[in-house]
This record gives sequence, C-alpha cells and structure tokens, in this order.
Amino acid sequence: MKTLIKNGTILTTTGEIKADILVDGEQIAAIGKDLQGPFDKEIDAAGKYVFPGGVDNHAHFEALNTDGKTTNAGYETTWCTLLGGTTTIVDFCTNEPGMSLCESIDYRINTRAKGRVSPDFALHACCVDYRGEESLAEVEKLVEMGVPTMKLFLAYKGTALYMDDTKLLAFMKEARKHGMTMMVHAENPDVLDDARDSAAAEGHYEPKYHYMTRPQWGEAESVSKAVRFATATGCPLCVVHVSCEEAGEVIKEARAKGAPVMGETCPHYLVLDPHLMDNPDWKQAVHWICSPPLREEPDREYLWKALNNDTLSILGSDNSSIPQYQKEWGFDEELGCVDFRKVPNGCPGAPDRLNVCWSYGVAKGKMTKEKFVEINMEYPAKVNGLYPRKGTIQVGSDADIVIFDPEYRGTWSLESNPNGLTYQPYEGCEQIGRAETVLLRGKVVVDDAKYVGQPGDGQFIPGKPYGMAYDLLEK
Ligand code: URP
Ligand code: ZN
Ligand code: ZN
Repeated sequence: MKTLIKNGTILTTTGEIKADILVDGEQIAAIGKDLQGPFDKEIDAAGKYVFPGGVDNHAHFEALNTDGKTTNAGYETTWCTLLGGTTTIVDFCTNEPGMSLCESIDYRINTRAKGRVSPDFALHACCVDYRGEESLAEVEKLVEMGVPTMKLFLAYKGTALYMDDTKLLAFMKEARKHGMTMMVHAENPDVLDDARDSAAAEGHYEPKYHYMTRPQWGEAESVSKAVRFATATGCPLCVVHVSCEEAGEVIKEARAKGAPVMGETCPHYLVLDPHLMDNPDWKQAVHWICSPPLREEPDREYLWKALNNDTLSILGSDNSSIPQYQKEWGFDEELGCVDFRKVPNGCPGAPDRLNVCWSYGVAKGKMTKEKFVEINMEYPAKVNGLYPRKGTIQVGSDADIVIFDPEYRGTWSLESNPNGLTYQPYEGCEQIGRAETVLLRGKVVVDDAKYVGQPGDGQFIPGKPYGMAYDLLEK
C-alpha cells in the first residue's frame, strides 16, 4: 500500500519543510517534491502541519494505583491517545502479584496488552517487589527484552511502590552496567507524611489539603538526592513529572555541572490551577489529585521557561486512567467525609498532551514549533531507545504521522476530547488546533478527527539501551 501525503508543511526540530511524504507499507519511503506514483491513496495536507506521531514518555494506562494494592484498567481507552496525535505510549509495568520484573513484562506484552492497545507501546519496568540479587540480575534481562528504562518511586512510603535508598543505589549501579536509564518519582515521603498527618490531626481532610501538604522543598530535596546518586554511580537519570521551580533549579544546576540528568514535566503542571481542588463538591475536586500536586502560577510559568531553555527536556502525560469510582475511594465511612490521603493519585491526560502544548504553548507564542517536536516526539523517543524508528519523519522511520489543523477552535469536553473516563480534567479549556488525520505505521487510524482504527493495532516496540541520557556522560 502506497500513500502520498501531499502539500503539507512538515515540522521538525530544526525548521519547517514544504514537502510531500511517500509512505510504503509501514514505513516512510521518500520525502520530497514530485514523488513518482502510482499511489493507492493520496491525502491532501494543504494548509496543515505534518509532524511525527507523539511519543509519550509517561503513561499509567494499566497500572498499580498509588495505594500499592489495586490497579486501574485502561488499555481499552488508549485509542483516545491517537485522537490526540500520540502514536506511541511508554507505559509503566509494575510487578504483577508474585511475578518477577521480567515475568511481568512478558505477561504485560503477551497477555494484558494482547488485542487491547491501539497505539504502539513500549514499557518502563517499575519495581514494586524488590527481591535483592534476583531483582538486580533482571536488569540485564530487561534490557535484552527491549525494556531499557526503569522507574522507582521515592515517595508513597508505606505502600509497595516505595523504594528506599539501598534499593535505589543498587538498581542504579546495575542499570549503569547495562545501558538502562533510571527514572524517579522524586518527593521526600517523610516531609509529605509530616505535613499530611498534621493536617489530618487538625481535622483537615478535604481534597485541597493534597496540594497544601506536598511542599516544593520536599520535591526538590528528593530530586537533589537522586541527582547525587546519578552523579556518584554514573547512572543516567530522568526525573519525571517535575512540577516546580525549586526542583527544576536542582536539575538545571546539575546539568550545568555535567551530571547525566534529564527532566520531564507534564501538561497539567503547565496549565491547571491547584485551586480546582478547592471545589466544595469533593467528587469533582478529587479529579485533580495527582503527585506532585498542581502548583501556582509562578511555578507554571517557570516550567514553560524550563522547557524552552533545556532545563527540562520532555513533556510526558503521566496519564493515570483512574475511573471515578476509584477516585471516590477517598470517602472515609468513619469520618463521613473524603480523606484526601486515600484518593488514588493521578490524572488522565495522554490524549490531551499535544493539544495542551500546542494550544497554550505554540499558539500563544510561548513555544516554537521546533521545541514542540523536540519535547513531545524526538527526545522521548531518544531517551527510550526508540529513535529513529519513532519520533521523527525520516526515510526508513515508521510512518507514524500527524496531519494537524492549526485553524481548529474548540472547547475541551469529554465529547470533543474523550479519554475513556467519565471526567475530563481540562473541561472548559480553550483548544487551538487538533489532529485531523493520524497514521500509525502507515495505517490511517484517525480520519477527519475521528478514530477509525482498532484495538490491537498497537505493537510492542522494543527500546534499545544507552538512550539519550547516556550522551550526557563524559566520554
Ligand atoms: O499522581 C500520580 N502521578 N500518579 C501516577 C503515579 C505516579 O506517581 O507517577
Ligand atoms: Zn510518579
Ligand atoms: Zn507517573
């Protein structure tokens, strides 16, 4: 099957090109003018931007909730990410009960994900069942299985998610030997627990106490530790979901000194206001409970700048597909009201990531189109060892292509921006531009802004070791 995408403007990390793209089967076969037919299909992209399908570094579609016991279930909802222009998700794979890390990856690819995932997917290992030498020996095997990244939670103490310094250090040393990149959720759990328990002791349980009890300094302190561990072990590190200036500045200083450290932030930290959690209707307010929490305007403005000046390198969604009934687990029968400490943390957002970045960044003149492609496509693909198969429009790359209409105007709603859940954190926000057509490995999966693909279209894409963060190591 040969498809010609003609008359569009291709966006890259270095500029714009007016050229046509020939897709042959699943790959890009040629880029240029006057490409020779015959073609089976022609797509006219006049007046549209054409860019690589988004690569989302940070998704929890089928994840252990932050209580460390229950899971959310979301692979059936992954079709929504294609509508939002993201063609590859990197999902977190925690240990399945009783399974090792490698067994869990195998189970994830061959059982859980089978026939259910719509975009292509890669995986980060995520240890929640540390078995000493046995787990450490798995690092090499994970890399061989195409999983060259791991996330460890330095927060959520008292749950299976939490990893102490002994485990962090041991995993980092092992990861460095095999080209694995470490990712961390950095918040000091003792700082949080002190504030959270003090609030509860004073009778404060409402959702707003979530953001009031997770101070910036607790995040920055944990980032500092992880950065020092990375420097000492030489293990490249990506600090995910950086939410504030204090934490971002730690990364900036570390990078200036040559530490092998990168940072990610998320769309909700760029645009959503923590006071959404002040809503007296707690069933609504809990929608924005995520960690680190949403921050005030100065931190949000800092994050835009940090993406633009290369302090932070990636925009990941941190999509958590937590259904409403699970969000309502925060209700405490004994108290007769919600207890913010019991609400599973996380917001949906993978389908919204590119639209938020374009609407509030590119369209408002706060970000260049080049940066948009860099932080949403190219760098996440490079960090995860997926480049140049993913994250770029090049001859030989997978034909994951978005044809984007910059003239579209809309208002965020569940109807126009579905996420497979019954609530939409960006409800009412102004949208500028949207994906009109999306190709996944050459197949049209979004046509006229409607999903036309099938669950199971997505394939597991193995990542290669020594991703982009390794380039920061002194040679
Ligand atoms: O609140 C969040 N971010 N939930 C998802 C799990 C995590 O911490 O990344
Ligand atoms: Zn996290
Ligand atoms: Zn996360």
